[in-house]
Amino acid sequence: MVPKISTLSGYIFEYQKSFANPTGFWANIADTFFWRKKYDQVLEWDFKKPEIKWFANGKLNITENIFERHMFHRGDQTAIIWEPNDPKEQFVKLTYNELFSKVKQFSNVLLKQGVQKGDRIAIYMPMVPELVIAMLACARIGAIHSIVFAGFSSQSLGDRIADAGAKILITADGGFRGTKTTPIKQISDEAMDQCQCVEKAIVLKRTGDDIPMKAGRDYWWHELMQEVNDTNEAEIMDAEDPLFILYTSGSTGKPKGLVHTTAGYMIYTAYTFRNVFQYGDGDTYFCSADIGWITGHSYLVYGPLLSGATTLMFEGIPTWPDAGRFWEIVDKYKVNQFYTAPTAIRSLMALGMEWVENKNLASLKVLGTVGEPINEEAWHWYHDHIGKNRCPIVDTWWQTETGGIMISPLAGIIPTKPSYATLPFMGIQPLIVDPEGKEMHGNSVEGNLCIKFPWPGMARTIWGDHERFRQTYFSTYPDLYFTGDGVKRDEDGYYRILGRVDDVINVSGHRMGTAEIENAINEHPLVNESAVVGFPHPIKGQGIYAFVVCTDYSTGGEEGIRHSVLMTVNKIIGPFARPDKVLIVKGLPKTRSGKIMRRILRKIAEGQMDNFGDTTTLLDPEVVSEIVEGAKKIS
Ligand code: WT7
Repeated sequence: MVPKISTLSGYIFEYQKSFANPTGFWANIADTFFWRKKYDQVLEWDFKKPEIKWFANGKLNITENIFERHMFHRGDQTAIIWEPNDPKEQFVKLTYNELFSKVKQFSNVLLKQGVQKGDRIAIYMPMVPELVIAMLACARIGAIHSIVFAGFSSQSLGDRIADAGAKILITADGGFRGTKTTPIKQISDEAMDQCQCVEKAIVLKRTGDDIPMKAGRDYWWHELMQEVNDTNEAEIMDAEDPLFILYTSGSTGKPKGLVHTTAGYMIYTAYTFRNVFQYGDGDTYFCSADIGWITGHSYLVYGPLLSGATTLMFEGIPTWPDAGRFWEIVDKYKVNQFYTAPTAIRSLMALGMEWVENKNLASLKVLGTVGEPINEEAWHWYHDHIGKNRCPIVDTWWQTETGGIMISPLAGIIPTKPSYATLPFMGIQPLIVDPEGKEMHGNSVEGNLCIKFPWPGMARTIWGDHERFRQTYFSTYPDLYFTGDGVKRDEDGYYRILGRVDDVINVSGHRMGTAEIENAINEHPLVNESAVVGFPHPIKGQGIYAFVVCTDYSTGGEEGIRHSVLMTVNKIIGPFARPDKVLIVKGLPKTRSGKIMRRILRKIAEGQMDNFGDTTTLLDPEVVSEIVEGAKKIS
């Protein structure tokens, strides 16, 4: 098991060790894992190319580190608790033995379908244990999983399948979320029609909905499972073989398929999990994130299972059957560590105390948040009413690209401060730069957040586009990884994340590129162009404000257009990317060189209707007054 730090002086000591001798430090952590063959060299790196290799030529399999490594003493321990959408449905507990057997069995299914090491497998599933079984089965045989969040539309799914060149899609008939069922198979069918690479679909029966199965392409999960046994040897992987691809949004339109590799990701997620959450044997840990996002990958599945933890997965939503559902679950399974997003905290806070008051939350020891800045009010509510003033809050800053937590308190060890992610994790060397790229030394500074030394969990490339990887993260400031976030280091040296400094917005913890939403809106036949900006939203953190230029809106009028613009975004990206406000305008504020002045639009979206600063470069100032008039009407 990876070592666990238990005191503040221990943290300071270990951090300094990791700073002075990073390779020696990580080699020690790596030695606690099970390797088929030891690596030759701990680290080779060059941020210019960029090329990052951890534990070169080491051989291992991540599932052997989840199962075989723990089996003797943990076989009968619960690995996964699954709480269904409907609290009246029977929950499921899978022991490490049972999960292992299913993973081996399903990896035999994949082998029988001709899947080979390095093949990509797309997964589009609801939050059911089979999703974990599918991803671990891929890892077992060296196939690269690419999980797509089941809220994405068929078009987004199709684009991601095609980009990864996946030949198998693992999916389900449908999914339950609150009172709704989602037509997962229908969305998968549309996606498969759009991209030609999928040869086979494996379909899990979840809702029992009557769905079409295409002969020769679609197979039922339960039928294929009957044809195989559960004896299976893990494929031996190289430390740097890709483990998975996960798509995320950037400032340009096309989503990026970040590639994470085997050994570094394994070591980093396990080590951060145990130390940040201070997970101890016998604890029950509950991460409310969907596995379709990186939080689910790293801290619902890999980090906890590598640590021999009991991890709870929840199929439903926090507000059904009522807004007490999370606390109900905490009570039912005596959850010890709970990890969620600020947006969930804010929305439950808004629904009032009645849903919390009668719940027994005495089992809780640690609370976590992730995904967006947490405002002080939400932090205090979480701390006082959920943690009853006795549970430390770990505000964990990290990204899809970083693989694991980068800046965060270690629970109960690093003193917290509301809205601060506090101090860097072992091995993480943050650096703040001014707009010119000069390092800002000392405390009480604010600038852009970069990282100057590699860490094992970092993404290695963008699938199929290494140049874009270099350009996006390693070209803004030479020899530094640029995070895209603004940050403040206060008088105590504590870090507070201020939010994105690029054209990425964070809506309910979902990261989206404004360009991606604009591209979707522009698909609407009556739209000429559009500009999307974020604005402060009390629950979602940021809301989406779309300024849309259309030529002709005679049919249906403005209201009609607004509605159909929303439908277009729904169809192209998914419901979670639907703008909160759509303003139909005659033109956008542009400079003489044709650049949209987003600064002005951001101010208008925030409700500021004058004092736009320097507008001398504006081509047509009239446009701004027209937008302001319109904005006043819809605000
Ligand atoms: C962006 C990454 C990493 C898991 C979920 C999001 C923002 C993340 C925090 C935090 C303030 C945060 C950043 C970051 N973010 N955690 N604790 N405080 N902001 O992953 O979708 O890759 O988004 O989320 O802006 O760059 P992601």
